Amino acid sequence: ADPALAERLRAAIRTIPDYPKPGILFRDITTLLSNGPAFQDAVNAIAGRFADERIDSVAGIEARGFVLGGAVAHAMGVGFVPIRKSGKLPHRTISREYALEYGTDRLEVHIDALPDNARVLVIDDLIATGGTALAGVELVEELGGHVVAAAFVIDLPDLGGAARLAARDVHVEILLS
Ligand code: PRP
Ligand code: ADE
Repeated sequence: ADPALAERLRAAIRTIPDYPKPGILFRDITTLLSNGPAFQDAVNAIAGRFADERIDSVAGIEARGFVLGGAVAHAMGVGFVPIRKSGKLPHRTISREYALEYGTDRLEVHIDALPDNARVLVIDDLIATGGTALAGVELVEELGGHVVAAAFVIDLPDLGGAARLAARDVHVEILLS
């Protein structure tokens, strides 16, 4: 862990109180993405952590996981696989429903998105309850992929998300309460 890096990332994230609902502290990464050095720091930290692992594909979760995951895939020189909200992917898909604070949502991935025996890095910007990430991880596993790790810039550990990913390796850059 690099405390100076964590401090730079932390400083680049904006917190908006009471969005989208009263009581929620929304962690807004648009200010990190629009800050070139901070964006590069975040991407290089994740890509660097997994540089010595054999990774075949980066799977990014819509929407913010596309921005980070696309950049990490590019930095690592591997392919990018989109895990999308339902109804967006044109070819045959498998899907998983997951719980949001109110109601449910659904993630999908193309049935042929991964090479055989793929070793996959799953990426999103943030893990809160872990419902989104678990759905993404399970889709990769249902396709026969091996999830080397799930990586996030931000973990909100009070919400227990990393624990819901159970035995999988979870990598996070910063913890926020
Ligand atoms: C946010 C975030 C994660 C998810 C984490 O996405 O980017 O994907 O919430 O929450 P969880 O761990 O409790 O599941 P959101 O659902 O707001 O969708 P968006 O990226 O399309 O805006
Ligand atoms: N997704 C779930 N909880 C969130 C939060 N507090 N900030 C940003 N995105 C989130």
